[in-house]
Amino acid sequence: MKLFLDTADVKQITTRYYSGLISGVTTNPTLIRKSGREPFDVYSDLIDLGVDDISMEVIGETSEEFFERGINLTKEFGDVATIKLPCSEAGITACKRLTDLGVRVNVTLIFSPSQAILASLAGATYISPFIGRMDDNSLDGMKLINDINNTLTSKTKILAASIRDPQSVGTAFSLGADVCTVPVGVYDQMFKHVLTDKGIKQFNIDAS
Ligand code: E4P
Repeated sequence: MKLFLDTADVKQITTRYYSGLISGVTTNPTLIRKSGREPFDVYSDLIDLGVDDISMEVIGETSEEFFERGINLTKEFGDVATIKLPCSEAGITACKRLTDLGVRVNVTLIFSPSQAILASLAGATYISPFIGRMDDNSLDGMKLINDINNTLTSKTKILAASIRDPQSVGTAFSLGADVCTVPVGVYDQMFKHVLTDKGIKQFNIDAS
C-alpha cells in the first residue's frame, strides 16, 4: 500500500513530503502546465527533494517517438524516472520495448480490464485506471479497480488515479489497488474527521 501525490506543484509537494508518507509523485502535461514550469525543472526539483519515483508523461504519435523520448528521460533522470505512456497501441508497444530494457513504465489512461491486460503483458510496472473520469462518464471507477484486481496475475501494480475524494482512497485499496495517487487537497483531507476534531477539543478541555 503506497501513496503518491498527483501534482507538479513542487512547493505543495515539499511541505507534505517530509511527513515520510509519500512514496512517489505522478505528473501529466495538464499538471505541468498548471505549475507554469518546464517539465525538466519540475523533475529536477523533485529529485533534489528526494522523491525517487516520478511518473513523467511522454507525448508522441508513434511507438518509436514514445520509446526514444522515454529513453531520453531515463538517460537524464536515471532510476527515478517512471515513463508514463498512454494505453494506445503505440504506447503499449513502446512500453514493451522499455520494460525489456528494465525501464519502469506507468501505462496511463486505463479504462477497461482489456487495456489493463495488454499493459500488463507489456511488462508495465504500474497501470493507472482513472476512477474519477470513469465516474464523470457514468461508469463505475471502483468496479474497474475490482475487475482489474480479479483479472491480473502478473507483478504489475494497480495505481489508482483520478481520485477526487478521501473516501475513494480507502475503497480503492480495499478493492486491490497497490498505490493511490492523490491531489494534495485529497491528501490533506485524509487526516481529517469531525469526530477526531471533537475528541481532541474535549480531551484538551478535560486535560486543563
Ligand atoms: C495521474 O496519473 C493522472 O494523470 C491523474 O490522476 C488524472 O486525474 P484527473 O482525472 O483528475 O485529471
